[in-house]
Amino acid sequence: MKEFDYLGAKDVYLDAACQSLRPRPVIDAISQYYTEHNSCGERVKYKWGIETDEKVEATREKVLKFLKLSGRKYTVSFTLNTTYGINLILSQLNPKHFDKVITSEIEHNSPFLSTIAFSKRTGLSRKVIKRNEDGSIEIENYDFNRAVVVVNCASNFDGRKLLNIKELTKAVHKAGGIIIIDAAQAMSHSSDILKGVEVDAICFSAHKMYAPSLGVIVWRDDLIEKMDVGFIGGGMVDDVKKESYLLSAESKEHRYTRFESGLQAWGEIVGFGAALDWLNSLLKKDWKNLENNTKELYEFLKNSDKVHMVNHEANPTMSFYVEGVDSHMLGNALSRDNIMARTGYFCAHYYLDHVMGFPPLIRFSLGLHNRPEDIEIVKNELAKIVK
Ligand SMILES: Cc1ncc(COP(=O)(O)O)c(C=O)c1O
Repeated sequence: MKEFDYLGAKDVYLDAACQSLRPRPVIDAISQYYTEHNSCGERVKYKWGIETDEKVEATREKVLKFLKLSGRKYTVSFTLNTTYGINLILSQLNPKHFDKVITSEIEHNSPFLSTIAFSKRTGLSRKVIKRNEDGSIEIENYDFNRAVVVVNCASNFDGRKLLNIKELTKAVHKAGGIIIIDAAQAMSHSSDILKGVEVDAICFSAHKMYAPSLGVIVWRDDLIEKMDVGFIGGGMVDDVKKESYLLSAESKEHRYTRFESGLQAWGEIVGFGAALDWLNSLLKKDWKNLENNTKELYEFLKNSDKVHMVNHEANPTMSFYVEGVDSHMLGNALSRDNIMARTGYFCAHYYLDHVMGFPPLIRFSLGLHNRPEDIEIVKNELAKIVK
């Protein structure tokens, strides 16, 4: 794609699940912020600040539109990344509203560890539930009574999706619980199953969806009733007295401030708005290209001797190991040919190592920037190395 014209012909970047490459319009928007209206948002009255404010507010609206959620019920706050977002919520949830915390076995360390910390802080029990091979959850097997459920919508090692997210959300709400979705992977290529589903909070990382490094929390306004204030500072208050303060988040207009303490990454937020515009402008053929590359590489791996796939089906994110070959050494060898892929357990240690007993793995994660030639290069190099 012309938006990635800075890529060398032999650069094969296969780490989009960590952070996607940034297309030119995103890089241009950030550069424009720094060179034309470098200013603090939300508090500055001069010209540059007004331009920043307009773009930041527009980005919040674009996020809700992208997710097909109503601004009457939901608020968009910016933060550092997915991990920070999940921790910000869990660390401030008041345990008196809940009986337990539930997560699943295929989680990234981000929800996995933060639910351990939540359970330790609150004394509430923690349950790790199973996911089917297709990513769905057997809802009837579990008791969601007054549960805080924190699960991903797509995994970071094989992309399997929470296919029954709607049914799960209904079941959790019916049982008096809340559901927080880790959408770090889903937002880049599997956001459709999430759109319009009224979960309590969605946390994701803009850097995995062609935008600058930035975290996002999309949250239902009534979540505020279940939270204590535990992380607070500048930009969050309308008035301060010696021993008290008035939170700006009391009003709907400034509700986003509830998770935005201190100065924010204004240039990155502006760049994220440009990334959403770019994603919305993509043509069917652009997604088809990703689909074709995915299929081609997946079929090659699946049919290669000695290759053991973690995936049960094709997905832009695919993990595997090669019998008798150390994945880290394989990753190094690929790197010598400019093929950039990840090795190890990708922050999903519990499932990949302790449940499945896999050796360290190698992960290819494709993005919209990949060309069919990239796949040919990988196939050739991998075949040579494995031989
Ligand atoms: C499913 C999933 N959740 C959470 C994270 C954590 O994202 P971040 O490091 O941006 O906080 C990742 C990162 O790869 C992920 O893939």
